[in-house]
Amino acid sequence: MSQLLSKKIIAWYQKHKRSLPWRTHRNAKDRDYKVLISEFMLQQTKVSTVIPYFNKFYKKFPNISSLAKARITSVLKQWEGLGYYRRARNLHLTSKILNKDFDSSLPADINQLKNLPGIGDYTASAIMAIAKNKSFIGIDGNVKRVLSRIFAIQQNKDFIKNIEKKIITMKVSKNCSDLMQGIMEIGALLCSPKKPDCQKCPIQKYCKFSFRPNAEIIPSRKIKEKYFYAFFIEKKNQILFSYNKSFNFLKEMINLPLVEIEKNHSLTKITKTLFDKFEIKNTPLKKINYNISNFKMIITIVYLKNNLKFNNQNFFWIDKKKIKQKILSVLTKKLIEASN
Ligand code: ADE
Repeated sequence: MSQLLSKKIIAWYQKHKRSLPWRTHRNAKDRDYKVLISEFMLQQTKVSTVIPYFNKFYKKFPNISSLAKARITSVLKQWEGLGYYRRARNLHLTSKILNKDFDSSLPADINQLKNLPGIGDYTASAIMAIAKNKSFIGIDGNVKRVLSRIFAIQQNKDFIKNIEKKIITMKVSKNCSDLMQGIMEIGALLCSPKKPDCQKCPIQKYCKFSFRPNAEIIPSRKIKEKYFYAFFIEKKNQILFSYNKSFNFLKEMINLPLVEIEKNHSLTKITKTLFDKFEIKNTPLKKINYNISNFKMIITIVYLKNNLKFNNQNFFWIDKKKIKQKILSVLTKKLIEASN
């Protein structure tokens, strides 16, 4: 039964898969490289957002060695707007290692993969399956939903362990790449969280959820709201920036000084955590919302006079004219635009 299930998924995938730019390749090295870039970009980001970035990136750096030899500023420039910038730095470091030690290919050993910067359990398993056609399946949100529905796996503390057990029974020796991508594709195209299209599903007959469509629905995650203050301070023709070390989604990027706050907070107290001396301007506070992959940011812009004192080494002034030359996240651009 499970071999049959795998066969049905693979056959459906081969007929119905979307044509995504990382799914075609010229040779094994090109395949490894495309899978590598796409898996880094797809961490935390959806397919439709990734496609234009992938194409642009691949055009600029057509193979591992061109990426390895590039300067980090030019890699970040291609990543600008995609978010979670740490991924670009890690991809760059990984390409250098692959170029030097692995003849510009990906190793086919999962432990060697996990030793590379930015490659964790999920990405290593996805690469093993997709690029190396080995018997692995990376378990992301889509895969979790599809498999837990097929096998009616309850969401309890053994959830992942039980999914992994089922995966073992599905493994095929010949086409692990299409099996993994087929499960992901069913999750993306048919088996949606709220309204799965069971009629079109190649494995409807074998799926426990399809018999009991109200059972085992994984509740869709409620998007969490998080609250922030961003500080806008002008001095002559300059704006105060900070080098971000605390927020994962802006790791090692520059931004307006930003702090996360509790819903009920004191503005003065929070501002004191950043500035020794400051005066809040009388300008009305502006609010902007910004969606990050797993939460919604609600940011209040606070205007301060420039007679401030900060003892934070991560703060620095940038000339307004030079801001355009900097590599900025979409959030930072939005904040600057909204502040002016
Ligand atoms: N999500 C993560 N990896 C993916 C891939 N290779 N194709 C489509 N969606 C994905």
